[in-house]
Amino acid sequence: MVSGIGAALSALVIGAPVVRAFVSPTLASPPKDDWVKVTDDTALLDVGVPIRLNFVVSEQDAWIESRMVKTVWLFSEDGEKFKAYNGRCTHLGCGYNFDKDANNFVCPCHRGRFDIKTGAVLDGPPPRPLDELEVQIRDSAVFVKYKEYRLGVPQRAEA
Ligand code: FES
Repeated sequence: MVSGIGAALSALVIGAPVVRAFVSPTLASPPKDDWVKVTDDTALLDVGVPIRLNFVVSEQDAWIESRMVKTVWLFSEDGEKFKAYNGRCTHLGCGYNFDKDANNFVCPCHRGRFDIKTGAVLDGPPPRPLDELEVQIRDSAVFVKYKEYRLGVPQRAEA
């Protein structure tokens, strides 16, 4: 009798996660909100100087959840309107940096350069401008609609 109860409890303890693993991916797919809050306060940002902002996104693939660090660059000329660029170089996806002396973005992988105001390619092999993202200011927080695009191609197409 006791061993029967023990066996039943063991089956429950072991079986529940297995059942959940097969069932939950189909149940747990809330609508995806791509809007990400990248900073709480626009007043903390320097006007005319791009700033790199990192955030973590979780992606669910079947029953495997992965977390990845993503990057956007935020830029404003007047402190009111903001531009956001995906932090991946459009050539092969390297993370680019702000070159303060040249006042543009530079990619360390193949020396691609981009304009900070427009994202246009200034030099190097990138086939298209930086991927600009939608921005919303809610109260004083900045939200970016994060998307990724195919790399190494001249037309912007979602990945
Ligand atoms: S990955 Fe940026 S220039 Fe090649």
